[in-house]
Amino acid sequence: MTDRELVELAFTMLERSYVPYSHFPVGAALLCKDGTVFTGCNVENSAFGSTICAERTALVKAVSEGHRNDFVTLAVVGNSKDYCWPCGACRQMLYEFAPRLRVLVANEKHEYVERTLNQLLPDGFGPDGMD
Ligand code: THU
Repeated sequence: MTDRELVELAFTMLERSYVPYSHFPVGAALLCKDGTVFTGCNVENSAFGSTICAERTALVKAVSEGHRNDFVTLAVVGNSKDYCWPCGACRQMLYEFAPRLRVLVANEKHEYVERTLNQLLPDGFGPDGMD
């Protein structure tokens, strides 16, 4: 799957977002080495802190299906003017499994920029930090 296809797949997830409080849908698509893709959307809750972001939805879907150390690229998209940057909690959760993950971050015009998770979370704390 190309980067552009992954970004567009993430955009299709915006309609699945459950966002009655923020009205800010976010979509994600996480590509694994074998070509499997796990999608995600944000799912909000009336107890606001119980909300889960799109990226973490995709990640926990992947991990719960047996994927761990084979993540290649994540697309994160939103209908925002600025690029839809992953929040700190998502960066941390992803860092656990893929500190060098490629991350494609898109804006409302479907333009995207590429970063590595290392760039988004420099000097992050991960499993190695517990040795
Ligand atoms: N959101 C995500 O889904 N991913 C992020 O990385 C940033 C924030 C969601 C959470 C909430 O439903 C809405 O965007 C507004 O914060």
